[in-house]
Amino acid sequence: MQYAKLGATGLEVSRICLGCMSFGVPERGNHEWTLDEDAAGPLIRQALEAGINFLDTANVYSDGTSEEIVGRALKEYARREEIVLATKVHGRMHEGPNGGGLSRKAIMAEIDHSLRRLGTDYVDLYQIHRFDAETPVEETMEALHDVVKAGKARYIGASSMYAWQFSKAQYTARLNGWTRFVSMQNHYNLLYREEEREMLPLCADQGVGVLPWSPLARGRLTRDWDEDTTRSRTDNFGRTLYGEGDRRIAEAVAAIAAERGLPRARIALAWLLHRPTVTAPIVGATKASHIEDAVAALDVELTDKDLERLEQPYEPHAISGH
Ligand SMILES: NC(=O)c1ccc[n+]([C@@H]2O[C@H](COP(=O)([O-])OP(=O)(O)OC[C@H]3O[C@@H](n4cnc5c(N)ncnc54)[C@H](OP(=O)(O)O)[C@@H]3O)[C@@H](O)[C@H]2O)c1
Repeated sequence: MQYAKLGATGLEVSRICLGCMSFGVPERGNHEWTLDEDAAGPLIRQALEAGINFLDTANVYSDGTSEEIVGRALKEYARREEIVLATKVHGRMHEGPNGGGLSRKAIMAEIDHSLRRLGTDYVDLYQIHRFDAETPVEETMEALHDVVKAGKARYIGASSMYAWQFSKAQYTARLNGWTRFVSMQNHYNLLYREEEREMLPLCADQGVGVLPWSPLARGRLTRDWDEDTTRSRTDNFGRTLYGEGDRRIAEAVAAIAAERGLPRARIALAWLLHRPTVTAPIVGATKASHIEDAVAALDVELTDKDLERLEQPYEPHAISGH
């Protein structure tokens, strides 16, 4: 396994992060494809044994059951101090007022609920899942700072938003002497590269680590365009992200993988791992081979010709996934 510092911090994370949105009770929340606890446990163990020390979940995944499954697996298979555990806040956790968002009230309630479900006293990285335009950014940043100062989170991070929103949050924190975000978890893969315009240069300039979500375009880069799986049939959000114009890139991945005799996932992840700002893609694994491929991708070298074939067919996308 390779390890890297997360942005400008001293924190060392594996260059593959295990995405835990794939784990949860399928009947809870809106991810019908998730693996239950019995199926998830061996994958989490396999990831840890491969040297992956970095796991990403969220309060909202499968209505909190992803956090519960991850927490119990880590108790069984890991030593807490060796793990970099990340979770998120913003999604709606209950009906009615204050059930989601980034108010001080929501953040203070949600960090405690996440810690209880995860069975730990602290998370390493507490991320805002989206920007909350309906709460003053000062309120959000001060509340996150207080979470850190209370010892409930070691670092804070952010996820998909416009670069101006991220910049505003960071400068608000700096002006007030509050904790700043150390990472950006954003939608970035061969099919969706809009982040290269504003967000990635901002992160590079500010020393912010980049953690791409859906690095395999939710499986679109790993199988034939018209092939479907349980996930592709039930992944309603995923269906909104990619279109027919992306097919040629998936075909280029398939062609290069066939020439090299490698699984397609290794080619698609190798591309991302070599992008200058990327710290660690967050891979969604539902089979043992998915973890093997993710780890093996670290050793795949792409030629200039490969890069040209993978990048040339790209068509700009409307902003999505915020
Ligand atoms: N911050 C956010 O808003 C946000 C949004 C989305 C995700 N995330 C994070 O990012 C993580 C990853 O997201 P994701 O699951 O969408 O990522 P992904 O890695 O792009 O997609 C995972 C899917 O790709 C397929 N796959 C993975 N490895 C494969 C391999 N080696 N060979 C063949 N197929 C393979 C599987 O599809 P099948 O199951 O269909 O075979 C798997 O379910 C999540 O767990 C979560 O932690 C964050």
